[in-house]
Amino acid sequence: MPATSPVVGRLPVVPRLRSLRNSMALAANPLPMLDSYLNELGDSLIMYLGGVQKSLLTRDPGLIQHVLQKNHRNFPKSWMSLGFARYMGHGLLTSEGNYWLQQRRLIQPGFHRQRVAALTDLMLSVIDDCLDPLKKQAAQQGGAVEAPVHEMMTTLTFRIIARSVFSSNLPEAELQRMAWLITAIQAFYVRSVRQPYLFPWLTVTGQYRRHDQYAAELRRLMLKYIRERQRSGETHDDLLQMLLDARYEDSGQPMTETQVLDEAAILLVAGHETSANALSWVWHLLAQHPEVVAKLRREMAEVLGDRRPAFADLPRLGYALQVVQETMRLYPPAWITDRISLEDDEYNGVFLPKGTLISIYLYGVHHSPKLWDEPEVFRPERFAPEQVRQHAPYAYAPFGGGPRLCIGNQFALTEMQLVLLETLRRFDVEPVVQPPVQLEPLITLRPRHDFRVRFRLRT
Ligand code: HEM
Repeated sequence: MPATSPVVGRLPVVPRLRSLRNSMALAANPLPMLDSYLNELGDSLIMYLGGVQKSLLTRDPGLIQHVLQKNHRNFPKSWMSLGFARYMGHGLLTSEGNYWLQQRRLIQPGFHRQRVAALTDLMLSVIDDCLDPLKKQAAQQGGAVEAPVHEMMTTLTFRIIARSVFSSNLPEAELQRMAWLITAIQAFYVRSVRQPYLFPWLTVTGQYRRHDQYAAELRRLMLKYIRERQRSGETHDDLLQMLLDARYEDSGQPMTETQVLDEAAILLVAGHETSANALSWVWHLLAQHPEVVAKLRREMAEVLGDRRPAFADLPRLGYALQVVQETMRLYPPAWITDRISLEDDEYNGVFLPKGTLISIYLYGVHHSPKLWDEPEVFRPERFAPEQVRQHAPYAYAPFGGGPRLCIGNQFALTEMQLVLLETLRRFDVEPVVQPPVQLEPLITLRPRHDFRVRFRLRT
């Protein structure tokens, strides 16, 4: 087997047979396998996903910047990302080309800083609703409660995004059903993409049909709220209102009902698991790092005293932001993304032929020993402003980059900072003796099994 691909000059190759042999292990847990390929062969290489699909895997920040930003026109999303539209429709995350651009321009103002600021009261009230029962439970149990963190953060962030989109209080049963449907559809989609050889079996056993039905059910649930809003004629300060009120610049027309539904569905999907996972990892890390919690408390005492944070306080709570940023370096919720080249291209002497599928391995960049000193160590100070200036471009990209940078990044950072601060205002966090927490990289990077942290009431 030659050391380089016959098509992509100079890049090392994981031969097809080796890729195939490892495909089950890769499907079960891709991170160790991808890391070992890159450690052995270099920061970019060619491999065969599932032993079948040829792909360029990279943790080279220069190449990532080239693809996402500098020459982004040549690198649209591939069928791997866009295929999710089968279930979720053509929202921002799952559309391409002129249609995507038109939608992005339309929706971008809805995520402006001031719009996010307007949502903070709503975020704080959802946080209260989630933390008050925990406080009660802790009080009943002698002052502390061991809580399943991922379940708690998933419920919390889903309520935040659902209420930010629909503002009205959705019934608990419907909220839970929506969250369940989204999780089931995402898990199935990852499986079908990562193990393409399962296609006949998944078809014969009716699993594609079942997940199409789940998607239809989710859309029906959401449509009910959209129609109710339109019928009532009421206006609300939420993301649905923003979608309904947006007008195309050229025609002055609003979106159709299907477009509103597609975009709302994508906001629910994109805005929920990502933040839930990042926050779960925050608690995982803080339970083990009391010195970081102590530093956070000093900052909170200085800026807030005893009161709750407001949006205007957040810029002065820089260490809380650094904790969130460092958590997403170690555990980037969007751990991988993909693009495909439209035309032949070249980066740093490497020929990238038309049709090259590129797997942008954000987890790999965030853990690269070439880019980070002691990459496995949790050290929020890496994100102090004077340190950030020294980071290589695209060495840190939890929200992606270029024109398709996450539209919800300000929303997410605000939400995460508020959850962190509001929880610490009420509780101390302590580790619980339990099996080691393992990673599960599906569409997002989540813990394989839920884990517990002890939340002790502060006196
Ligand atoms: C910690 C939280 C989050 C992380 C780590 C994250 C990460 C990302 C990344 C990496 C992308 C780009 C994907 C690519 O280029 O292939 C993206 C896109 C997107 N995100 Fe987020 N996201 C988060 C939270 C949110 C929230 C809260 C919302 C909505 C309220 C949101 C909505 C979107 C949308 C709509 C896109 C597609 C944008 C476009 O293509 O124009 N995200 N996100």
